[in-house]
Amino acid sequence: MAKDYCVLGIESSCDETGVALVRVTGQRPPTLLAHALYSQIEMHQAYGGVVPELASRDHIRRVLPLTREVLQASGKTLQDVDVVAFTRGPGLGGALLVGAGVACALAASLGRPVLGVHHLEGHLLSPFLSADPPEFPFVALLVSGGHTQLMQVDGVGRYQTLGETIDDAAGEAFDKSAKLLGLGYPGGPALSKLAEFGDPAAFKLPRPLLHSGNLDFSFAGLKTAVMLQAKKLAALQGCAVAALPKAVLADLAASTQAAIVEVLVKKSLSALAATGLKRLVVAGGVGANRSLREQLNQACAVRGVRVHYPELHLCTDNGAMIAMAAAMRLQSGIQRANKVYAFDVKPRWPLDDLMA
Ligand code: KG4
Ligand code: ZN
Repeated sequence: MAKDYCVLGIESSCDETGVALVRVTGQRPPTLLAHALYSQIEMHQAYGGVVPELASRDHIRRVLPLTREVLQASGKTLQDVDVVAFTRGPGLGGALLVGAGVACALAASLGRPVLGVHHLEGHLLSPFLSADPPEFPFVALLVSGGHTQLMQVDGVGRYQTLGETIDDAAGEAFDKSAKLLGLGYPGGPALSKLAEFGDPAAFKLPRPLLHSGNLDFSFAGLKTAVMLQAKKLAALQGCAVAALPKAVLADLAASTQAAIVEVLVKKSLSALAATGLKRLVVAGGVGANRSLREQLNQACAVRGVRVHYPELHLCTDNGAMIAMAAAMRLQSGIQRANKVYAFDVKPRWPLDDLMA
């Protein structure tokens, strides 16, 4: 690999099409030249969740215009692209195939190599794009719509799972609770917004596995508890859950958020204590949650732990994290890009499989 090269990253694993161009110069931290994102949220809203077939079709529509936008914004042309990276998994099969297919077609036509990236590794390394990047080793709290994991990260490709959810992910707990409160999709941002007006101590909701003695999570029971509480209140008022007074819904939202955040914070602290590490990285969509950030910052400050987050706009899915993860894998020498244009995506792909 030349000393100076550009990596184009394409993300299409779920409901966001993301494209980005990252420049790598020797062993210096890669720099983001430009990125562009198209969110399908509005399209899926009518259905209350992501419709996989619609997602795939929309990725097809967006990916090339976004690529043009990124090249234009960075003052580059396709000829300047040295490696094409794409999200290989995990994610929706059809959606992944769009990104992988376009990446391979582009790379083949340019005679350039491709590199398939693990979506969660993208999230994990996304704080390296921030103004305050972390240093290895660290504990990572990965909290996305589909995954909730605590990892020990010793370097690029050196990841060890410390604990993970045994059922729903934290993002799913936000999304499902929000849905039953009538807040629509995606629920996380809507629920946390409403929670600002509520009392987090209004309802006593379970903190699943809080005292389990290990670093695993479980959020499925919480969603059921929220549902039972909401139905009880609705029956008392003689209305549907979504028609409850806004103040009651806000209390429910705040109590739900408090339960999720407390578990995430306590388990992160336990992981830090168990590993003896003094650095925490929070990544994935739920990492955008304000209450989680506030409480983690507070708890870590008194323990002398540094917390790192991706830039707020890079918490949820984007192409920059995919280009960045590819760049860091190439720099570290653990993976080479190659000219095998097989676009063999992996809808299910445990992060531990990446162990270098
Ligand atoms: O990482 P991400 O964009 O996609 C996956 O890889 O899954 O995460 C999406 C998840 C959704 O569950 C969404 O509701 C949640 O992140 N989320 C939030 C917030 N913003 C996004 N959850 C709580 N508070 C937020 N502010
Ligand atoms: Zn994601």
